[in-house]
Amino acid sequence: LARYAYVDGRYTPHDAASVHVEDRGFQFADGVYEVVSIIGGRMIDMQGHIDRLERSLDALDMAAPLSRPVLTMIMRELIARNRVDEGIIYLQVTRGVAPRDHKFPTGIKPTLVMTTKRVDFRNQKRLSEGVKVITIPDIRWARCDIKAISLLANCMGKTQASGAGAYEAWQVDAEGRITEGTSSNVWILTRDNKLKTRMLGPEILRGVTRDSLIRIAREEGIEVVEEAFTVEEARECREAFVTSATSFLTPVVQIDDTVVGNGVPGSLSCRLQRWYLDYSSGLRETA
Ligand code: PDD
Repeated sequence: LARYAYVDGRYTPHDAASVHVEDRGFQFADGVYEVVSIIGGRMIDMQGHIDRLERSLDALDMAAPLSRPVLTMIMRELIARNRVDEGIIYLQVTRGVAPRDHKFPTGIKPTLVMTTKRVDFRNQKRLSEGVKVITIPDIRWARCDIKAISLLANCMGKTQASGAGAYEAWQVDAEGRITEGTSSNVWILTRDNKLKTRMLGPEILRGVTRDSLIRIAREEGIEVVEEAFTVEEARECREAFVTSATSFLTPVVQIDDTVVGNGVPGSLSCRLQRWYLDYSSGLRETA
């Protein structure tokens, strides 16, 4: 099956797709991205992802490459051409191609790239069995709210997690409080039964999955407390999980050497996961 990438106005065979060596994405990581998951050929939370893309572009004073309807149309077209029933679409916008110079150039055309990947996420064992995570210092920059392509610290953290046999690394700020995973948001159900996820701010990315899950939980009458929590609080929690476009709601059953609860996904986590999976498969109406 031919697989295409979209690069600056063209659908190109994936293996041959490329951008210029002086693209600022390549030179400076001067760009932003989104990952949207696809189930049944349909993008999940597309509006939320495009909203965030616009916020990221604004924060970096970058022009939108295309209007929202055209962008959406191309995303749908690429998914259709690549016949992705379940998987992800990756979208990246960089400031464009210019001779290497740190200051932002003006008057150049942004580079827009999209690729897709088939992934069979819902059948992954980790959704039902849960995963282990490790904790590491958060060494990232101070604008983690921007979904920038500069992900070196995240890559280092994920590699360390993988080396420790863990699925994710939870990053910890200077006060000993967890910010987020290297590619996911973090949630716990505390000893006193509060469902907590860190408040928004420049320290974390505002996850689209996080937004949807907060909405779903509240619809179900479950209170969500948006507040920072320490590693100790997390180690003593009843339940824990992470959320992202690619991990949906993945239960966490071990934090470093500490087993969470009974070592199996907690009951609230399982209910939230079911609701979220129903929602993402179009089986659930929400506001
Ligand atoms: N990552 N925090 C970070 C640092 C992330 O990279 C991501 C997503 C999230 C969760 O956001 P969302 O729910 O919108 O996916 C939180 C994507 C999936 C990635 O980099 O592959």
